[in-house]
Amino acid sequence: MQYKAPRGTQDILPGDSERWQWLERTFREVCALYGYQEIRTPIFEQTELFQRGLGEATEVVTKEMYTFEDRGGRSLTLKPEGTAPAIRAYLENHLGGPGQVTRLYYITPIFRYERPQAGRYRQAHQTGLELIGSGSPEADAEVIDLTLRWYRQLGIQQLTLKVNTLGMRDCRTRYREALLDYARPLLRDLSDEERVRFESNPLRMLDSKDPRVQAAMAEAPTLEAFLEAESQEHFERLLEILGTLGAEFEVDRRLVRGLDYYTKTVFEVQSPDLGAQNALCGGGRYDNLIQEIGGPPTPATGVAMGIERALLALEAAGALPETAAPADAFAIVLTKSPEAERWLADWRSRGLRLLTDPERRSAKSQFRQADKSGAPFAVTIGDEELERGSAKVKQLSTGEEREVAPEAVVEHIRSALEA
Ligand code: HAM
Repeated sequence: MQYKAPRGTQDILPGDSERWQWLERTFREVCALYGYQEIRTPIFEQTELFQRGLGEATEVVTKEMYTFEDRGGRSLTLKPEGTAPAIRAYLENHLGGPGQVTRLYYITPIFRYERPQAGRYRQAHQTGLELIGSGSPEADAEVIDLTLRWYRQLGIQQLTLKVNTLGMRDCRTRYREALLDYARPLLRDLSDEERVRFESNPLRMLDSKDPRVQAAMAEAPTLEAFLEAESQEHFERLLEILGTLGAEFEVDRRLVRGLDYYTKTVFEVQSPDLGAQNALCGGGRYDNLIQEIGGPPTPATGVAMGIERALLALEAAGALPETAAPADAFAIVLTKSPEAERWLADWRSRGLRLLTDPERRSAKSQFRQADKSGAPFAVTIGDEELERGSAKVKQLSTGEEREVAPEAVVEHIRSALEA
């Protein structure tokens, strides 16, 4: 029996994993510029955290969660996103208090039972951040600025930032009613399942990909008319700051997002280099979530960015970085003398990345392996070399070979690599 990775998952193989490391390293560096600190939360949480946090009627909660009962009869769920767990941990560990701003970032797998396709997986990975304790538009702008900086740092140039405001709870309640009123004829024509879905979450009709729904909603009322003055001012100030940051953006009145916790600001960054799954990231403000899951009223805002999608966008733009050689040198060891092992140990201690043949096969075989390994140098140690007190260091691309004293080998290779 040949086992396969489960549908919607993928192995991240050597070569690719270096790109992941580079992308994660870059994310950490950008987060540090704004004072975000890393949080790592468990892979699973109590199911109720997500039901309450993301919204009982959202597609993620009703259809996509990996939920199971453990042997103690508890209902647990593999995290479908990082915000609710980060906020749970923030509350449980008292990471902030009244008037205090807390900045957290994370790099995490997420699990959603979705139909797999290009850019959509059942185990996907996100980089994300949460800015907790500030209700200002400046906080939203900081999150967006950091997000765009990361993409620019990675070399993703083709970006569209879409922003919208969803207002606060009251305005949304009134708007939902207006939408349902407007959509009544459409709802009558839909399947039971679709009708129930849209009735519990009418805003999703606005960004539906179904052409029937799109056509029916073309003239739907917009939320703008229902927006409270406070949300309107917040949004205007955000747009003003985005303008001063030099960020190009589009106001998209139909951007609603799939999770229920959003209030006021929502945004996505899209890439024309991705296909149907064109959202590189998504985020926004969620001023009610913390209270919803048992904390004091605390405003917050954040974003999560798909790692696979960032890599797909880079690949489509031909901007993926080259992967580095797995080692600086391949040591061809032709002696059983312990002195040879001491040389190797010493070179590694001084930072030389060394490959060897653990089988210590013939000189010919080891040379062949050195050529195939991708390492730029081969260093030969046999009994003769030990006697003379020097190793043969060969640059494989040019064939140039030198006798080098063991204590000078690392320096010799390093300066050649830097040249
Ligand atoms: P989200 O829009 O559900 O938001 O996901 C954010 C990003 O994660 C998406 O734009 C996409 O790049 C990536 N992503 C999500 N699901 C998949 C999947 N099945 N396959 C591949 N990539 C995927 C959230 O998760 C919120 N927690 C974001 C947030 C943080 N809002 C406030 N703070």
